[in-house]
Amino acid sequence: MDVVLYPHPSLKMTAQPVLRIDSILRQQIENMFKLMYATNGIGLAGPQVELPYRVFVMNYTGDAEKKDKEMVFINPIILRRGGKLVSGEEGCLSFPDIFAKVVRPERVTVRAFNIKGEMFTATFEGLAARCVQHENDHLDGYCFIDRLDENERRRIQKKLDKQVERYNAGETINKGVAKSSEEQSESEQAE
Ligand code: NI
Repeated sequence: MDVVLYPHPSLKMTAQPVLRIDSILRQQIENMFKLMYATNGIGLAGPQVELPYRVFVMNYTGDAEKKDKEMVFINPIILRRGGKLVSGEEGCLSFPDIFAKVVRPERVTVRAFNIKGEMFTATFEGLAARCVQHENDHLDGYCFIDRLDENERRRIQKKLDKQVERYNAGETINKGVAKSSEEQSESEQAE
């Protein structure tokens, strides 16, 4: 499993609803967490790993030891955005080395399914709310650079151009986390 870099087309697509939470999806989600920790991320969305489904993972502490902070969002819906609009710095695993200020509501209420297929509704504030909105955007083909004001956009433009070169050179991010799900399930069958 690799994180694809902008402007990979996967990042522009609208992800499809998950229809079944099966062992393949659970394995993919486990790999997403591994890759997220390996890249020092706090969230990772399906389209970033070429998984065209409405799923993202989050641990806003970024601490792999804090398993109780791990959350999986399957088919999430943002029910409510509230509070003040706040500006905060964001980065994205699909844009290594690029950080910029994004304005978002400070509070968000989400309904989603967890990895057991149970529906839950939760309200987030601060960094977690920012992360949820950022990851949820990925499911609709939006990246944080689509949310920048003109100044911020201009400020990062050179870095963005460099990143396009890296993408064109075929770069992805893989930290030794398991290969594609096909290879995974083949090896499972082989056992
Ligand atoms: Ni992102």
